[in-house]
Amino acid sequence: MYKIMSKRTLSPNVHEYDILAPRVAKKAKAGQFIILRVDEVGERIPLTIADFDAEKGTITIVFAEAGHSTRKLAQLNAGDAVQDFVGPLGVPSHVEKFGTVVMVAGGVGVAPIYPIAREMKNAGNKVVCIMGARNKDLIFWEERMREVCDEVLLTTDDGSYVRQGFVTDVLKEYIQNEGNPQLVVAIGPLPMMRAIAELTREYEIKTMVSLNSIMVDGTGMCGACRVTVGGETKFVCVDGPEFDGHKVDFAEQLMRSRKYKPEEQQAFTRGSC
Ligand code: FES
Repeated sequence: MYKIMSKRTLSPNVHEYDILAPRVAKKAKAGQFIILRVDEVGERIPLTIADFDAEKGTITIVFAEAGHSTRKLAQLNAGDAVQDFVGPLGVPSHVEKFGTVVMVAGGVGVAPIYPIAREMKNAGNKVVCIMGARNKDLIFWEERMREVCDEVLLTTDDGSYVRQGFVTDVLKEYIQNEGNPQLVVAIGPLPMMRAIAELTREYEIKTMVSLNSIMVDGTGMCGACRVTVGGETKFVCVDGPEFDGHKVDFAEQLMRSRKYKPEEQQAFTRGSC
């Protein structure tokens, strides 16, 4: 069992847990993910690592209550434990000195983007973060991002905080005013990552996106997380989660992500898997 050392609620339905998993924390790197199960009958929940502390032996995860399993996870408190916690999985982010790196975070995407931004900064890059959410209540970790970025630009869909607009609007303005960054990293909902990749394709800016697919085994055996990248089949769990955004077949990913929506809705309403 893996103990929840602390719990914070960041915005309505979004929670942050520090989970004691010393062996995972010792090996974790920015960009990797874990798979957890709340209990013996729970479904596997893949979550990109939001932070890690090898000394304390903790992994930080942030998740939104999006369905039955995440709602069950959200009902736990500090002192409780989850059944399984496997990781670190996946390929760490490729970090080097690129020059200027723009990190684009949509919604809860700010959590997995945080350790990558920190590593990019430590590697000597100028790091700019664009954070977007539907409204002010859904913005979190602003101060934390400011600590590891040279600049943080915020936007909300409804204009309730800083400015109104989408992260694509902010990125386009940034490129027009400051010129092309050497790299864009985008993490958030699939439509957002697709829109960012379409924009940066016009400007020929290398763009990495982090996919959060349906997963079962997390070891490349079951095929549940498959994705087409540059015409080839890849597995998010072992080849990703980061891929070249200009090569990802987003239409296929969107279709696959909606495949189990009726069952998810049924489980959510019924309160069981
Ligand atoms: Fe089974 Fe990736 S989760 S192949």
